[in-house]
Amino acid sequence: MKIIDLRSDTVTKPSIEMRKAMYEAEVGDDVYKEDPTVNRLESYTAELLGKEKALFVPTGLMGNQICLNILTHRNSEVICDIGSHIFQYESGTAAASSGIQIYPVQGKNGIITPELVRAAIRPESAYYMPRTKVVEIENTHNRAGGIIQPIGNIQALAHLVEEYGLAFHLDGARLWNACAETNISPDEYSKYFDSVSVCLSKGLGAPIGSVIAGEKGFIDEAFRLRKAWGGGMRQVGIIAAAGLYALENNMSKLKADHQKAKLLAEFLNGFENVNVNVDLVQTNILAFELKNINDADFIQKCKENGLLVGPMGNGIVRIVTHMDISDDDITQAKSILSKVLN
Ligand SMILES: Cc1ncc(COP(=O)(O)O)c(C=O)c1O
Repeated sequence: MKIIDLRSDTVTKPSIEMRKAMYEAEVGDDVYKEDPTVNRLESYTAELLGKEKALFVPTGLMGNQICLNILTHRNSEVICDIGSHIFQYESGTAAASSGIQIYPVQGKNGIITPELVRAAIRPESAYYMPRTKVVEIENTHNRAGGIIQPIGNIQALAHLVEEYGLAFHLDGARLWNACAETNISPDEYSKYFDSVSVCLSKGLGAPIGSVIAGEKGFIDEAFRLRKAWGGGMRQVGIIAAAGLYALENNMSKLKADHQKAKLLAEFLNGFENVNVNVDLVQTNILAFELKNINDADFIQKCKENGLLVGPMGNGIVRIVTHMDISDDDITQAKSILSKVLN
């Protein structure tokens, strides 16, 4: 039985062309900064994001956490939406590795307004409170269902961050999806932030890798910290080549993933036992609520019929489209969903 895997966009397998680029990659010792392919990936990504410098890191988590460490000091605080990856899914690393606290605020569909953030900023005189140092947002927002951060709100948050002398970090694991949908360039989105983390291993289909970007001094510090946290890598041009291939060839495929997610959302909207807001399906992630059906049973029945979907808890199920999913797979997924929901 063919399995259609819609749990995440991280399940993609490197294409033959990507593997060929990896095979042919020129390599060197990246701890000495002598890997030409890594150097090329870093300068290309820095250019795309409009930043002075960039650094290749193994994972999105490491990228985010290195940035937060540099932008804070112990006992200080990062304000973000309650659904943020740094709060929900990074294993408490901000506390464990940087001695900082996350202050999660309840945004709407993953979007936090300047009013919400202003109310969460600690007063300068409150010596008994943590010091607010960073505001963080996620674009697109994973847990909120691939929501795109409105550029106007980003600008307003950037003003606030400046007013209070804070730093602004972007978790852009899926920034490429936002760009594909809005036609706003990566550097236009990034220019409001002190640090940006982007992933190559989500919708772009590389097997591994993230890149962080910022000013030169910031990235020089990140280079030291990556080594200190055990992320110094050697001949990793073979994986950087996959990332470069992904950036150069797969960005243009993202919009098709979004259309597939929208099609599935519209289809699911036709079922009485499903609650889905089609307007909130802006990119490749689709979260829907099941009514009068147990989510674990639903996920199991889909699996028995060859469709993998992801649990989000509280009766919410997640579907994520990606480049390994064809139009035929969507047709097949619809027929399985229909069988299980009826
Ligand atoms: C928004 C967001 N940020 C960061 C990450 C972390 O990426 P990684 O799994 O490479 O650590 C993810 C992973 O799913 C994510 O969705």
